[in-house]
Amino acid sequence: MVHKPEHREEYMEIRRAKKADLEEIFRLGYKLLKYHTQYNVYYRPVKNLREFKKGQRKYFTGQLKKRNSLFLVLDNDGKLAGYSIAKITKNPPVLKDKIRGEFAEIFIDEKYRGKGWGKKLLETSLAWLGKKKIRQIIVKYDAKNGWAENLYTQAGFRPFQNEYELILK
Ligand SMILES: CC(C)(COP(=O)(O)OP(=O)(O)OC[C@H]1O[C@@H](n2cnc3c(N)ncnc32)[C@H](O)[C@@H]1OP(=O)(O)O)[C@@H](O)C(=O)NCCC(=O)NCCS
Repeated sequence: MVHKPEHREEYMEIRRAKKADLEEIFRLGYKLLKYHTQYNVYYRPVKNLREFKKGQRKYFTGQLKKRNSLFLVLDNDGKLAGYSIAKITKNPPVLKDKIRGEFAEIFIDEKYRGKGWGKKLLETSLAWLGKKKIRQIIVKYDAKNGWAENLYTQAGFRPFQNEYELILK
């Protein structure tokens, strides 16, 4: 899949992530976590990339193999500029709908933001989820993340559940 959003010059490829991408994905995933510290201390990351890899290796490796996940990367001539993960997950057994879609995470490296690539990764993921027999797709993002809110509301997402926090003194 080679995409060229209208308002950008370079070509980048959106493709499925593979094992050889993992090191780059760790780098981006660690940045995603650190990016969120501006919103809430909850996101304070482990002390370095090595620790992050230890914590995330199982999850990312698992997502690569799962038939029910679409793990995409944005490949800029061998260097990754972003990634996203979409999944099909089980609903609680008391619900009529047994499964739902989940857009689990997305990160575009700083210098590539605002050029339509996040939207493209999201659209590609929604198209994939749209072919599955699901009715609902959910996404979670920090309540203060206005950019993510723009991305998702533009794509048609609407508020579903509220999650509140209570900070204990
Ligand atoms: C959020 C993120 C994935 C969006 O990807 P992107 O490639 O930068 O965004 P796009 O260029 O595709 O723009 C998507 C929408 O974001 C909004 N947007 C674009 N530039 C923006 C800016 N500077 N500030 C706020 N919103 C902006 C617009 O609504 C745009 O849709 P539109 O062009 O139809 O109006 C990316 O900025 C990112 O990785 N941010 C850091 C990590 C993060 O917040 N991840 C999401 C939560 S897990």
